[in-house]
Amino acid sequence: MSYTIRPAGPEDITALIALHKAAAAVPDGLARRPDEITQAYVERCIAGISFVAVGPDGTIWGEIHAARETVALFSHVLSSLTVAVHPDRQGRGIGSRLFEALIAHARSMQPPILRIELAAGAGNPGAIRLYERLGFQHEGRQVARGRYPDGRLEDDILMGLLL
Ligand SMILES: CC(C)(COP(=O)(O)OP(=O)(O)OC[C@H]1O[C@@H](n2cnc3c(N)ncnc32)[C@H](O)[C@@H]1OP(=O)(O)O)[C@@H](O)C(=O)NCCC(=O)NCCS
Repeated sequence: MSYTIRPAGPEDITALIALHKAAAAVPDGLARRPDEITQAYVERCIAGISFVAVGPDGTIWGEIHAARETVALFSHVLSSLTVAVHPDRQGRGIGSRLFEALIAHARSMQPPILRIELAAGAGNPGAIRLYERLGFQHEGRQVARGRYPDGRLEDDILMGLLL
């Protein structure tokens, strides 16, 4: 299965809306519901650092984004990280390669990025395992941070990677 990883651009917006909606339709993954995936949201995603995995026919199979913190004290930190691989393409290494691209880019940024942080729902153990494998450390737990439409509460797991 061949695909390439490249930076995302404005030409990808329509495809990225479709990708994130498809990923959001599967429970216990992305925080946003499909109706919360809007053009404005995707524009914000690609305004930071964003990479896409593109299949041989140009279809976008996955996307990762994060952004440098704007407050000077925290400006060595990449946060607001989200990664999504199309449900039909998950479990084949695309998420890992997207992370590798993001981490490599972060290492090259000036002023330097020294830390990447993310949060994952406690009900998403597959994603948490992936982050552990990439070297992210568990840093804390926000109890009852998420609340689903049926009233179910879920903790968020905070994780960080020092570069
Ligand atoms: C989490 C996600 C980005 C991982 O990307 P991926 O391309 O499936 O991951 P890879 O193939 O590189 O790595 C596989 C690992 O991802 C994890 N994983 C998470 N969700 C998975 C899924 N649906 N299918 C397979 N592996 C998944 C597993 O830990 C797996 O490792 P394992 O073999 O030890 O079980 C992707 O599954 C996804 O988009 N899920 C829905 C959205 C989501 O949960 N985003 C993260 C929010 S915190």
